[in-house]
Order: sequence, then structure tokens, then C-alpha cells
Amino acid sequence: MNKLFNTGVLALATLASISSAHEGHNENKPSSSYSLVADYSGPTFFDGFVTFTGPDPTHGKVNYTDKAFAASTGLLGFNYHQEDNSTRARIGVDSTDKAPGNAGRNSVRLTSKATFNAGTLLVADITHMPVGPGLWPALWLLGTGAEWPAAGEIDILETVHDTPYNAMTLHTAPGCSVANSSASAPFAGHLQNPDCNAGSAMTGCSIHAPATFQSDGKNLASAGEAFNAQAGAVYATEWTPHGIKVWAFARSAVPASLNSPNPDPNSFPPPLASFSGPGCDYAESFRDMALIVNTDFCGDWAGRVWEKMGKDKGTGVKSCEEFVGERPGEFKDAFWEFYSIRVFGLGGKDVGKNPDVGREGFGVL
Ligand SMILES: *[C@@H]1O[C@H](CO)[C@@H](O)[C@H](O)[C@H]1NC(C)=O
Ligand SMILES: *[C@@H]1O[C@H](CO)[C@@H](O)[C@H](O)[C@H]1NC(C)=O
Ligand SMILES: *[C@@H]1O[C@H](CO)[C@@H](O)[C@H](O)[C@H]1NC(C)=O
Repeated sequence: MNKLFNTGVLALATLASISSAHEGHNENKPSSSYSLVADYSGPTFFDGFVTFTGPDPTHGKVNYTDKAFAASTGLLGFNYHQEDNSTRARIGVDSTDKAPGNAGRNSVRLTSKATFNAGTLLVADITHMPVGPGLWPALWLLGTGAEWPAAGEIDILETVHDTPYNAMTLHTAPGCSVANSSASAPFAGHLQNPDCNAGSAMTGCSIHAPATFQSDGKNLASAGEAFNAQAGAVYATEWTPHGIKVWAFARSAVPASLNSPNPDPNSFPPPLASFSGPGCDYAESFRDMALIVNTDFCGDWAGRVWEKMGKDKGTGVKSCEEFVGERPGEFKDAFWEFYSIRVFGLGGKDVGKNPDVGREGFGVL
């Protein structure tokens, strides 16, 4: 199926370049290979993002701050690492002040100015993620220009509290269900539920990564404390009209192709997650997606499972909101840190502009 599709695209690309050569155009890029379309890295990491500052759509105990405020209070910044002379982007939360009553804890929700469509390979080189009671961090893609979940949501790396594994999840309008294709298209994770509109899309379809799996002959953690102890991993996500795959690699085991200008996921080993099968149109269910990095607290997921996950007993604090409000010191290590996030497009197609930027609650530079 995949092979046939690729051959088809290659044939079209060849035709296109022949005919355009005849017409005297020479700016045609082959539509069969990926090339860089967006680069969030090093000291310019934040330039391609705006900060979302509206009320949290998922009802967390959070105050999503604007870029200027976040930069001046150290929530957004850079960590310089002498050991490899690298400047890495840091996205943190407030760990000094109490947030009493209904106040939210200061945090950041970055939204990309660019949007992406099917035919996208996103590579996030992550060195640290927020972990611990009360936290709900996520690296994800959200469809723009339509009411959720009409343009879809792809959660690439998401956990709550101190969960030691990554839950990769799709949320869509009705009519998208994924096959449990572990026999024909093996993946290391476990499909929880095939209907991506389950629970009116709140539940969605999720593949849980194993807590640890083999990469470069070693155990690699997919999320949590162990993920930070190993200095993270490189998460790659490929989204085509035929499906969505997520890989995680030890930095020492990144496929050579991923470091080339034209990475080719066909050469990658089996992924952690593969959402595929004829029950979903992955180009229609997911559209014009913006990249988001955020750290939420409590809310619709982390807040609801506080007791179920034993965090009340574990922390001695009855509610998630009370813990987050009263214990700022618990959040000193609650930060994302990235070398880079690079996005490759098939055929070098251009990225879109996020139509939500400039609307109320969006677009604060
Ligand atoms: C919430 O964030 C804004 C910046 O976006 C800031 O001005 C305000 O003081 C914050 N609220 C609290 C209670 O810290
Ligand atoms: C460290 O990185 C900077 C920026 O890339 C570069 O200019 C500098 O030469 C590097 N220093 C060393 C010691 O490698
Ligand atoms: C998918 O297949 C795996 C392996 O056979 C199984 O453990 C899992 O329960 C299945 N998931 C669903 C939702 O059927």
C-alpha cells in the first residue's frame, strides 16, 4: 500500500518535472522527498511562535502568560550547556509564587505561526520535559480555523503527573477510526481504542508507548523521570494522507537519514505508534495544524485523575488545584528543553499561516 503510493507520487513528480522542464520552469522540487520547511532551534527557537494567552480551553489551574512577561520572568529563555557548547530553548513555569484561590500558576503555551498539512515530518530533539504531580505537559499539533475537533488534534508527547510513558493520541470529528495493525505494520505501543472521536473526541484514539523500549541496544524511556535522566530523546512524527507514525530515538541512534537534508522515514525502524488503516482520511481529518508546546496544570485530564492515580495520598494534598497553588517549589524542574524542532514538508511545499494568530487570546508576540 505504502510502496504503491510512493511509486505513484514518484511517477507524478517525474512527469511534472519533465513537463515543467519543457515549459522552462526550473523551480520544481521533487514531491517524493522531504525538505526543511520550518526550523525552531537554538537562539532563534522562539521566533516562529506566538504565545496563546486566553483562558485555558482545558480548564487547567494555569495563567498562560504573554511572550514579554514570560521572557522577563524567566519562563521563556535559553539554557547554555558548556559540555556540548549548545544553546537550548527552555520553557518553564513559575516556581516561586503561590497561586491562591482561582488564580492560575504562570506558564506558557507556545503556538506556531506556521501551519502544516498532510505530508509533514516533524522532528523534535527534546532534552527535558515537565514531570511530577499536578503537571500536564504536551507537545502537539492542533487544527486551526475550525472549532475543535473539526480540524483534528495530534498529540505527539503527552503525559500527566509522573506517568512513565507517553500517550500518543488523535482527536477528530466522527468518522475516523484506526486499525490495530500491529501484525501488518508493527509498532511498539498499545492501541487503547480505535475510534478517534471516542468520548465526543475527548478520549480520542490513543496508543500508549511502553515505559521503556530498545533503542541503540539500550533501554530508552518514552516519557517521565527516566526520560529526563537520559537527557530526553528525538521524537519524529510522520503524517501522510495514509496515516500517522511516531518514533522515539536515542540521540545516539537517530537514523542517518534524519540528519540529512531529505530524511526518508521509509528507512526508519518500526515506530512506537502507527495510526493507519482505511477507516480514516488523514489528510481531511487533520488540517492546517499549528505546533503547540505547553505546560498545563490539573484541568480536564491531570485534575480529573488526581485521586485515581493516588496523587492525593502520594502528596498528602487533597486536590490537584491546592497542590499546584500552594507548592510553587515543587515546580523548579518543571520545564521543557529543546535543542530543536524541525519540520520537513513533502515536495518542499510551503507552510500555511496560522489563521488564529491575531484573534483574541492568540498571537501575542
Ligand atoms: C498572568 O499573566 C499576565 C501576563 O500574560 C500577567 O500580566 C499577570 O500578572 C499574570 N497573573 C498573575 C496572577 O500572575
Ligand atoms: C560554540 O558555538 C558557537 C555558536 O555556534 C560558536 O561560534 C563557537 O565557536 C563555539 N565554541 C566552541 C568552543 O566550539
Ligand atoms: C491491539 O492489538 C494488541 C496486540 O494484539 C492488543 O494487546 C490490544 O489490546 C489491541 N487493541 C485493541 C484496541 O484492540
